Amino acid sequence: MMCSLAPGLGNDPRTDAPGNSEEMYMHIGRHDGRIEVRPIAGSIGAEIHNVDISKDLDEATVGDIRKALLDHCVIFFRNQRLDAERQKAFTRRFGKIFIHPNYRGMQADPEIIVITREAGDRKIVGEEWHADTTMMGEPPLGAILYAIEVPPYGGDTLFANQYQAYEALSDGMKKMLASVRAVHSDRMVAGPQANKNAYRATKVREDADWRETVSTHPVVVTHPETEKKLLYVNASYTMGFEGMTEEESRPLLDYLLQHGHRPEFTCRFRWQPGSVAFWDNRACKHLAIHDAGPFRRVMRRTQIAGAALG
Ligand code: SIN
Repeated sequence: MMCSLAPGLGNDPRTDAPGNSEEMYMHIGRHDGRIEVRPIAGSIGAEIHNVDISKDLDEATVGDIRKALLDHCVIFFRNQRLDAERQKAFTRRFGKIFIHPNYRGMQADPEIIVITREAGDRKIVGEEWHADTTMMGEPPLGAILYAIEVPPYGGDTLFANQYQAYEALSDGMKKMLASVRAVHSDRMVAGPQANKNAYRATKVREDADWRETVSTHPVVVTHPETEKKLLYVNASYTMGFEGMTEEESRPLLDYLLQHGHRPEFTCRFRWQPGSVAFWDNRACKHLAIHDAGPFRRVMRRTQIAGAALG
């Protein structure tokens, strides 16, 4: 089961609604106990219980967490206590830490991005439906976001399952997209023309030496671990289709972008201090809801290096 289905559910999560029974929960064996995986929505997302990720976890537990990530696209932990070093140590259990080129030199530690939203910010990081940093030839495999300070309400994060987005396309559309590549650029999210810094507390590179990074990826990517097909376009980085102008690309791209976050593909995560979200950046898109009004929100993000996608 690879996050196209939640445990105990039929092929269409809309027609086979989850109950509250024990079968809803998937228990995974460990050498010294069990982690418990509790789905939070019909298509995507599960809370992981019975594990303290600040500890030096054994290989079996890390394997169980990785499996849960692949199964559910995004997994959540509650009541964790992670300082920056413990967050980096946990991140490294899943791969090399990715250094974000557009935050390099902007914060104290290049391996960490502190995402701060101050009261009254008119823009926030991640407010469009996106996968992270897809202008890179090798986009990050995943990200781990730890909640330091959260608003009393507002500031939730949405996630959308891109395996299901692909599966729900018609056969004709799947056939048409099979060999299409998309152009991804960071020019909407960084650099002087993006003009984000005047409106938000989290600053990105906007200096005159900044240069655009551009890569192409297939529109339909085969996930390197699950080997399942998924839709791989997003609102923050995808500019158009290779060999076409941006204007020509726009109608189809807009359709695919909207289609990718149909409500039945999504889950919504309500943060508490000490909550952690760990997403598979290949398999899902996410969006930070810009509704925290008068409140501060502070998150710490690490990213895991990935590989080229085919
Ligand atoms: C992000 O897009 O990585 C930030 C998500 C969030 O702050 O909820």
